[in-house]
Amino acid sequence: MTRTIPAPTLDVDRVRADFPILARLVNGHPLAYLDSAATSQKPRPVLDAVREYYERHNANVARSVHTLGTEATEAYEGARAKVAGFIGAGSADEVVFTKNSTESINLVAHAFSSMAADPRFRLGPGDEIVVSEMEHHSNLVPWQLLCQRTGAKLRWFGITEAGRLDLTDLDRLVTERTKLVALVHYSNILGTINPTATVVARARQVGALTLLDASQSVPHLPVDVGVLGADFLAFTGHKMCAPTGIGGLWARADLLEAMPPFLGGGSMIETVLMTGSTYAPPPARFEAGTPPVAKAVGLGAAVDYLRGIGMAAVAEHEKRLTAYALDALATVPEIRIIGPTDLVDRGATISFAFAGVHPHDVGQVLDAQGVQVRVGHHCARPTCARFRVPATTRASCYLYTTTDEIDALVRALAVVRKVFA
Ligand code: ALA
Repeated sequence: MTRTIPAPTLDVDRVRADFPILARLVNGHPLAYLDSAATSQKPRPVLDAVREYYERHNANVARSVHTLGTEATEAYEGARAKVAGFIGAGSADEVVFTKNSTESINLVAHAFSSMAADPRFRLGPGDEIVVSEMEHHSNLVPWQLLCQRTGAKLRWFGITEAGRLDLTDLDRLVTERTKLVALVHYSNILGTINPTATVVARARQVGALTLLDASQSVPHLPVDVGVLGADFLAFTGHKMCAPTGIGGLWARADLLEAMPPFLGGGSMIETVLMTGSTYAPPPARFEAGTPPVAKAVGLGAAVDYLRGIGMAAVAEHEKRLTAYALDALATVPEIRIIGPTDLVDRGATISFAFAGVHPHDVGQVLDAQGVQVRVGHHCARPTCARFRVPATTRASCYLYTTTDEIDALVRALAVVRKVFA
C-alpha cells in the first residue's frame, strides 16, 4: 500500500546546514546518518555554546563568589530552567541533571527500599513493579536489581504481534500490589509510541507511582509532563542534539523532596559533621560533585535550537519520513518490519529483518555504501526474543533526515541482496 506523503513542515536543507558532520563522506559515499535513535548529531549553535562557555566563562559552579564562578553558575542554572520549560515542568527545581536516562532511572530505583521512610518508596515481598517487554535494558535491569534486593516481584506487559503494548491484562497487572509502573514512552527498537495516559490513569487508580522512559520521545515529540501526568520522566541530552554525558530526571517536587540522596559528596549537603550529615534540598541533593557544566550548557543550547524549529514541526517532519520509509522498505521483498507498519502512534525508528542475512552483515554492507544504521538487539533483548529474532537492523531518523537518505538505504539494501544472493 502506498501512503500519501504529507507536505514538508520544515526546511530540511536549512536544518542540515547547521550540522557540520552531515557534509562528510563515508567510504566514498555521502553520509546517510540513519542512527539518531542511538545518538543524534550536533548543530553548530550547540557546539558554539560549549566552546564559548569554555572560552569565556569556565569555572566551578555553586561554590565561588568570583565573577567567573557566578557566570558559570548562571549558565548551569539557566540551562536547567530551559530544560524545565521545554518539558513543561512547574519549576526548574523539579529537574535533576544526570549523566543520561540510565542514571536517572537508577536514581529513582535507589529511592525504593524495604526501609524507606516514605511509604510510597517502601518495597518488600508482596509488592510489585510493572514494566513492559519492550523496555530498553536501562528501564528493566534497575528494576530487576531492586526486586532482587527487596523481594518485590517484577511483572510486565507483553507486546502484540503488531508491535503494540498489550494492555489486555491492564487491570490484572496493575493492582493494589503495584508500587510503580515504569514504561517506555517511545520504543527505541519498535518505534511504537505507547498509550501512556491509559497506563498512568490505571496506576493512579491503584495508588502506584509511574515513571516514563522518555529517552526517545523528548527529542522527537512535543512533551509536557503536565499532560503526561506521570510522576517521573527520564531523558537524555545526546539524543536531542546535546553533548553526551548529560541527561535529566524530572519528578514531582514532593517526590524529590521525599527521596534520599543517590551519590554522596560535595554540593549535595546542608551540614556535615564527623558523626553524620544533612542534605540539601532537591535538585542539589542529587547532584554530588562537580557537575558536567559545559554539557548542561550544551543541552540548554540544544533546547533553544529545537524550540527555534518547533517540536510540532520536528514531529510532523518525522511522520512524513515514517510514511516515506515504510513505503520504500515495502518495495524490498526480503524485509520484515519488526514493529508497527501503520502510522498511528509510531515514530521514525524502523527495525527490520532481512531474510537470510544476519543484521551484522546487513550493517557492514550498508556502511560500505555510507549508510549508518544500528544493528543488534538495541539494548532491548526481550523485545527481539518476543519477535523471534536474535537482532534487527534499525534505521532511525531525526529533524535533519531526508527522503534521499532513505532512498540511499533502499539502494544499499539492493547491494545486500546482490552480495548474499
Ligand atoms: N539507546 C540507544 C539506542 O537505542 C543507544 O541505540
